[in-house]
Amino acid sequence: MNITKTHGAFVLSLLILTGWNVGCSPAASFHAQGVSDVGNALAQASVTCLAPAGVSARPSTIEDVVVLINSLPKPVTLSCFLESLERPLNITLTNSQMSAQPAAGNRSPRVFILNEKLYMSVVSEGRGRDYLELSYQTTATTSVKAEIEFPIMQSISKSKPYSGVRFGNGTNCSSCHRAEKQIGTIEGAPMFESWAYQPDKETLVDLQQFENELKICNFSKEPERCEIIRAVLGHGEVQSQDFPKSMYFNFSVW
Ligand code: HEC
Repeated sequence: MNITKTHGAFVLSLLILTGWNVGCSPAASFHAQGVSDVGNALAQASVTCLAPAGVSARPSTIEDVVVLINSLPKPVTLSCFLESLERPLNITLTNSQMSAQPAAGNRSPRVFILNEKLYMSVVSEGRGRDYLELSYQTTATTSVKAEIEFPIMQSISKSKPYSGVRFGNGTNCSSCHRAEKQIGTIEGAPMFESWAYQPDKETLVDLQQFENELKICNFSKEPERCEIIRAVLGHGEVQSQDFPKSMYFNFSVW
């Protein structure tokens, strides 16, 4: 991906003209042996899942996420969004089932993507699969919560991620993320801050183990699951990054 990030549209168009599938080139370098239909998977990777020049592919705020999504060709799928992110990705994996976006065990962990104060999470199967869960850390122990449902058919407003979590007088995150309070509005939509949680240590999943899931993923049997895993791991370097130690553990506040 660095080729296109560095040299911009010119290189991209050159690669298209020469028949290269840019979106796939890093995927081709992962250890593909044993992935029976890796060719299929590569063929599906889209050359268009790239942030245009001037748009950050390394979002560090919820607004950056909206700008990046709006810059991608519609409809924007969750995997296209993940694919567009600049590498290396810094991630934490958890098999925790105690959240709005439960992991479906070790083989399909919940993936948190960390960048500065922004936390984004996705899962490759289960009821949370169509969602990008989001938070922006506001203090050592709190964050603002938001959520975006995919696919995105047309450009979304800055307030959309905040209206996505609304429930009653607050958000549907507050049943776990306690001490919720409104801290402002954006385009008329209230933003709510609450306690931020890090995954429990026993729930952490090893990155190597997850990389193996891509190697053995059966794209014909589980196309959607494999597609999300490939969108996270198959587009350049991914490395582990721990959550800040300051965040609460969920069990400690019940
Ligand atoms: C059933 C309890 C539960 C609910 C409801 C819940 N979460 Fe969480 N959340 C957790 C737990 C537990 C963690 C720690 C990571 C993990 O185990 O998955 C967490 C961590 C997070 C994190 C990482 C850091 C942070 O800022 O807390 C984000 C982002 C997040 N949740 C977003 C959300 C959003 C958005 C909602 C509402 C749509 C939500 N969560 C609802 C339990 C929950």
